[in-house]
Amino acid sequence: MPSLGRGYAEAGLAGTDAYPSAVDLRGKTVLLSGASTGLGPHIARRLHQAGAKFVLSARNRDALEKLAAELGGADVVAADLSKPGEPERLAAEAGAVDVLVSNAGIPATGRLASFKIEEIDRAIAVNLRAGIVLAAKLLPGMLERKSGHMVFMASIAGKLPAGGESMYNATKFGIRGFGLALREELWGTGVGVSVISPTFVSEAGMWAVTGLKPHPIAGEVSPAQVADAVWRAITRNRREIDVVPIQLRTVLKLQALTPGVFATTARWMGATRSNEALDRRQRDKR
Ligand SMILES: NC(=O)c1ccc[n+]([C@@H]2O[C@H](COP(=O)([O-])OP(=O)(O)OC[C@H]3O[C@@H](n4cnc5c(N)ncnc54)[C@H](OP(=O)(O)O)[C@@H]3O)[C@@H](O)[C@H]2O)c1
Repeated sequence: MPSLGRGYAEAGLAGTDAYPSAVDLRGKTVLLSGASTGLGPHIARRLHQAGAKFVLSARNRDALEKLAAELGGADVVAADLSKPGEPERLAAEAGAVDVLVSNAGIPATGRLASFKIEEIDRAIAVNLRAGIVLAAKLLPGMLERKSGHMVFMASIAGKLPAGGESMYNATKFGIRGFGLALREELWGTGVGVSVISPTFVSEAGMWAVTGLKPHPIAGEVSPAQVADAVWRAITRNRREIDVVPIQLRTVLKLQALTPGVFATTARWMGATRSNEALDRRQRDKR
């Protein structure tokens, strides 16, 4: 048996179902990373409707201040999560946080051979390490209060590997695995964990700005659907929500049963080439 951490044992919580993990957002403080553009503002507005208060974070302070004003006031902490020490500083400056929504991410698409080592490091730092460090730093306070929730923004790229996406797949499989395992680790402590796995999102965000059209099987969902999933995950303590159209839901089930057949089919359908086309439009964000 692996040993349980000190905090859990001291709180007398190990292995129990002592505290419910669903969070009523009224008056609760949400730390939202990636709040400046794309899906972040949609998530903020949805959680605001449910009564949440915010610490908003990203690099673009002007965009954060504008969103804060729209929400009737919010704390803003600008941070570059690719830089050492920045996730730790963000967690410290955020103060007592009831809910973490770790949403910041960069599109690390493209063949591995086209990546500079600093681009590999940046993808891991922003998409994977930052969420883990924020969780580690915010967890003691949540455990002490016996209440809290953490949401990790993954992707269907955390479930479906494809050529031309090895780095993005690595970070999204990683954050998804981390979130799902952490949920089990924290069961019974009052701290819930959820993972959100959307397909391509229309209207706003890193996919929408490319102007590309998705394969009909992958389909598209709206930012409102993603934001609603985040709200549901927190208020109903959901393990994982796939924000996907019905046809992709079926493919995900088949892929889980026959991963080899899925990989061959995706290769045959030209997934690697599609990802190269996507990379050409996203390269500036690496
Ligand atoms: N859009 C989609 O189709 C889709 C689908 C599945 C999953 N996702 C995931 O959803 C999340 C949000 O994506 P999005 O579509 O909203 O992307 P986006 O429009 O590119 O926004 C990304 C957000 O992350 C922040 N960010 C980027 N680099 C950062 C850094 N070094 N330090 C701190 N913050 C940084 C950006 O703010 P600043 O530039 O101001 O720093 C921005 O707020 C990501 O985790 C993404 O992987 C997106």
